[in-house]
Amino acid sequence: MEIKKVGVLGCGLMGSGIAQTAATAGFETIVREVSGELCEKGLGGIEKSLGKFAEKGTITADQQKEIRARLTSTTSLDDLADCDIIIEAIIENLETKRETYAQLDKICKPETIFASNTSSISITEMMTATSSERQQRFIGLHFFNPVPLMKLVEVVRTVLTDEALYEQAIEFGKQLGKVTVRATDRSGFIVNRLLVPYMLDAIRALEEGVGNIVDIDNAMKLGLNYPMGPFTLGDFVGLDTTYYIAEIMFNEYREKRFAPPPLLKRMVLAGLYGRKSGRGFYDYTKDARNPTPMNLV
Ligand code: CAA
Repeated sequence: MEIKKVGVLGCGLMGSGIAQTAATAGFETIVREVSGELCEKGLGGIEKSLGKFAEKGTITADQQKEIRARLTSTTSLDDLADCDIIIEAIIENLETKRETYAQLDKICKPETIFASNTSSISITEMMTATSSERQQRFIGLHFFNPVPLMKLVEVVRTVLTDEALYEQAIEFGKQLGKVTVRATDRSGFIVNRLLVPYMLDAIRALEEGVGNIVDIDNAMKLGLNYPMGPFTLGDFVGLDTTYYIAEIMFNEYREKRFAPPPLLKRMVLAGLYGRKSGRGFYDYTKDARNPTPMNLV
């Protein structure tokens, strides 16, 4: 079966980026959100991002219109019935995901591939909410933020994934213009398995007084040529998200390196989520382009 129509569940930061990427690659794309308002917000973000690419000349004005024309939105799961692949990027909650997959399993045609963009929840645990036929057509497709700019997608297989289907998913990732890597269904896959302990260790180093926020960030950014230091990255990803991923990984591996440090937990409890809430390791409320470090320890 050839993939022609892509369904994206969720039009938040990741879902909108995935939908934009699919439409840009030439696929007819439909996004589903729970309200009309959220559909509008997501599509608005896509238009803004396409506008940036058009301004830079990465795409022409005609291409911008064509990409936009390939994108539609809906609030009904039923409208995803004829999609060849569904990429799910809804809230990171296992029960919500399982309920949605169980519903979709009945709605979608038998050939539809189910793919989750989860960063840490077990693909196998979501997969078991669907029929045994679908379970062979269930994979992970983990994208990175900002999706239209980040080149990587992790293609994740379970112990039941059909061999040919998996190869097709790798091809699909390439058609999206991404570099694909193969990973098995272990919490965090490749990137977060290595990234999360690094980010948590940076927080421990801060708590221990090894360096301050700006110095640790500059050390890792300039010493290794990383685009961002660990605290800027944490604020960018969202500290609530980072905490949540760490908790899931700690529960899976039971290893200290995945345990969220007390400071991270307290920051999340206090609503310091990073950029999205205005404050995290840095305060973005006065000047988002030149944030000032917070006094946390
Ligand atoms: N669409 C189109 N253009 C965009 C864009 C978007 N969504 N986001 C940024 N841009 C453009 C900007 O407009 C800017 O354009 P100009 O050069 O013309 O000004 C350009 O991209 C660069 O952006 P910025 O100047 O704002 O900042 P930057 O040079 O630092 O680049 C970045 C931004 C690509 C995000 C870069 O900082 C980066 O690579 N950071 C690391 C990102 C990263 O590690 N992501 C992974 C997070 S982990 C994850 O996602 C997975 C998980 O499971 C947690």
